[in-house]
Amino acid sequence: MTAPLIRASDLSVSHAGADLPVLRHVDFRIDPAEIVTVVGPNGSGKSTLVRALLGHVAPDTGRIERQAGLRIGYVPQRVHIEKAMPMTVRRFLSLPRRVGDAEAGAALARTGVAGLERRQITALSGGQFQRVLLARALLNDPQLLVLDEPTQGLDQPGIVAFYKLIEEVRAETGAAVLMVSHDLLVVMRASDRVVCLNGHVWCEGTPQVVSAAPAYRALFGAESLGALALYQHHHDHDHDHDHHHGHHHGHDHGHAHAHAGPEPEHCHGPECRHQH
Ligand SMILES: Nc1ncnc2c1ncn2[C@@H]1O[C@H](COP(=O)(O)OP(=O)(O)OP(=O)(O)O)[C@@H](O)[C@H]1O
Ligand SMILES: [Mg+2]
Repeated sequence: MTAPLIRASDLSVSHAGADLPVLRHVDFRIDPAEIVTVVGPNGSGKSTLVRALLGHVAPDTGRIERQAGLRIGYVPQRVHIEKAMPMTVRRFLSLPRRVGDAEAGAALARTGVAGLERRQITALSGGQFQRVLLARALLNDPQLLVLDEPTQGLDQPGIVAFYKLIEEVRAETGAAVLMVSHDLLVVMRASDRVVCLNGHVWCEGTPQVVSAAPAYRALFGAESLGALALYQHHHDHDHDHDHHHGHHHGHDHGHAHAHAGPEPEHCHGPECRHQH
């Protein structure tokens, strides 16, 4: 088995002033070149998990191991830009580490926003801004990209395009990607593994296993059914290129996989009384 880039075992994290830990007994790993997406309701601890994995928040208990010298490109959920202070895209790319023009230009080109160097950061559209953030995260030639809700503020086509870009970047650079997202439909299509978080790990596994898991459906309700349907549809097309009338077959196929496939290591639900 390959060594994980980051591995957390039995992680619990509390924030100052809170009665209960935000994260309880979480196990997590991400391997080289994997795309792992963390989903979960607002306040379920997704950003806290990410920040703990990066070492920005100290855990109460548990262990976090990061590969020695791991290069990480991080886009936090909130990036504060002082509106009153003019800042060009070019200058933004040189914060906190100064980079050359060629490197800055290449990163912008890689994320599909070539030539924006002289534009003001505050004047960018939502989609352009997210791509500039990704460009900045790529500057350090990361082995791991950590993106906390990178598609916030994008419309549906923008979200799909952004995930496609992430997959291209992974294919080109071999970087692993750890993402937090609320876009269940796209997540299910573009992730190797999905971790469904609600204080602890409710469910994890491949998209097909997670989207069929009762715990996941309990957490996301109706929205989760759409993801399952989409997954099966997509799966059908992947495996049935020449067959335009393969929908019926595809749905059966998807179900069979969902039930016969590997069970996620942990799959809890609202009824969960599991103690680690
Ligand atoms: N710095 C902090 N100090 C105190 N409490 C915090 C802090 N950061 C987060 N929390 C609390 O921890 C809980 C989890 O927050 P977190 O930001 O990890 O959730 P999230 O899953 O990322 O939510 P969202 O989908 O809204 O981004 C929330 O109840 C939040 O209020
Ligand atoms: Mg968050």
